[in-house]
Amino acid sequence: MAKTKIARENWGSKFGFILAAAGSAIGLGNIWKFPYIAGENGGAAFIFVYLICIAIIGLPVLIGEVLLGRTTQRNPVGAFKKLSNSKFWISVGFLGVLAGFIILSFYVVIAGWSLGYIFEAINGSFYKFNQAYTSANHFTMLIQSVTWNLGFTIAFLLLTMLFVYFGVQKGIEKGSKIMMPLLFIILVVLAIKGLTLDGSEKGVSFLLNPNWKLLHGTSILIALGHAFFTLSLGMGAMLTYGSYLKKDSNIFSSSTQIVFLDTLIALIAGIAIFTAVFATGQNPSAGPGLIFHTLPVVFTKMSGGYYFAILFFFLLTIAALTSAISLLEVVVSYFVDEKGWKRHNAVIVFGGVTFLIAVPSSLSSNVLADFHIFGLNFFDLADFLASNIMLPLGGMLISIFIAWVWGFDKALVELKQGAENIFTDKPYIISAWKIFVKYFAPVLIFLVLLNSLGIL
Ligand code: TRP
Repeated sequence: MAKTKIARENWGSKFGFILAAAGSAIGLGNIWKFPYIAGENGGAAFIFVYLICIAIIGLPVLIGEVLLGRTTQRNPVGAFKKLSNSKFWISVGFLGVLAGFIILSFYVVIAGWSLGYIFEAINGSFYKFNQAYTSANHFTMLIQSVTWNLGFTIAFLLLTMLFVYFGVQKGIEKGSKIMMPLLFIILVVLAIKGLTLDGSEKGVSFLLNPNWKLLHGTSILIALGHAFFTLSLGMGAMLTYGSYLKKDSNIFSSSTQIVFLDTLIALIAGIAIFTAVFATGQNPSAGPGLIFHTLPVVFTKMSGGYYFAILFFFLLTIAALTSAISLLEVVVSYFVDEKGWKRHNAVIVFGGVTFLIAVPSSLSSNVLADFHIFGLNFFDLADFLASNIMLPLGGMLISIFIAWVWGFDKALVELKQGAENIFTDKPYIISAWKIFVKYFAPVLIFLVLLNSLGIL
């Protein structure tokens, strides 16, 4: 007997899709990572290279992923199954679902710290630890507390599950429509505050003056790798979001808008952070510690800093939340599409499983600090495996699949739906896309992979 199939979910509007996908893209990568890697690798010189990477690799692969999703109306595993039915390619889909899980398991830990820091800001505890070293010690003390660390990880994960639980339109889309504009407004307010501080010019020039001497060969690979992470590429998150699109949507224009928003937010975040860091005389090169060690001190040194601190960590938490939602959605969509599970059950079961794998990452800063595999603690290992190995591998294989296995003949027929104007008015954009997906993406991403493995 044929099973009665419930209609697959869809986005309510094109704008809803763009905001949800931008929500996935804009995350810790933009606000926490981008400013400090740009600062360390030559400021505007790095940004220049990064923009090229976004244009020739990021955007074309994003278009490809969304296209695979919209064509097949499936999760990553189902998408490959539908287009190729080969075991190898189906396993690429699995690699994506697995990578999503692994990223989620450490992402919720950092996001949990951000959530916890909203409360630190409200309690005014930054004013008690208002020196660079006391602030760093305070952070270390907090993450060494199992209850604090694990407690906020769980709280953040439950928030993520809540949105995914309510489904594509009522949960993810509705949430993004509220959270993304809010994020933008808060960030603009923080950037204006930063720019009006005395001495902010030094921050602007740190970020926007090209320092070519700091731009090394590896900086280029860092830019490429980051272009990938920040656009949520390589594991089928954008594929899954694309699978909820109707066929009349214009993939070219929506992907371009997503990339534009992601880049804009990263740049404004850089301005907001470095103007404030320089104006208050703090050290700009604290690297990953910039947000949790340096910024709390920065806030205590500016007028109204108490409120700006709360706003900042609230902003960071929402940014992380809309990204974590997209990671959980990939896993959930796999079990809903392929295994016929109910969404609610999938969310509860895989939220629980995520929690279990998040525990060792969370405990990496305390109980399990000395537990090392290949010289890395659990947290760093999860980050390295997913971000440096699985994502580039996935991204490379996805472009190879589109260009060489599925083939442009079929891909272009699909791409044309909703984007006829580009095919007739600007055919050179289509040719450029083909060249980037066929040659540039696989080769350049392969170099990133070799660099991650220490071969290059
Ligand atoms: N893009 C997000 C960020 O910049 C992180 C993220 C969400 C992600 N979903 C992803 C990264 C899927 C890779 C793949 O923080």
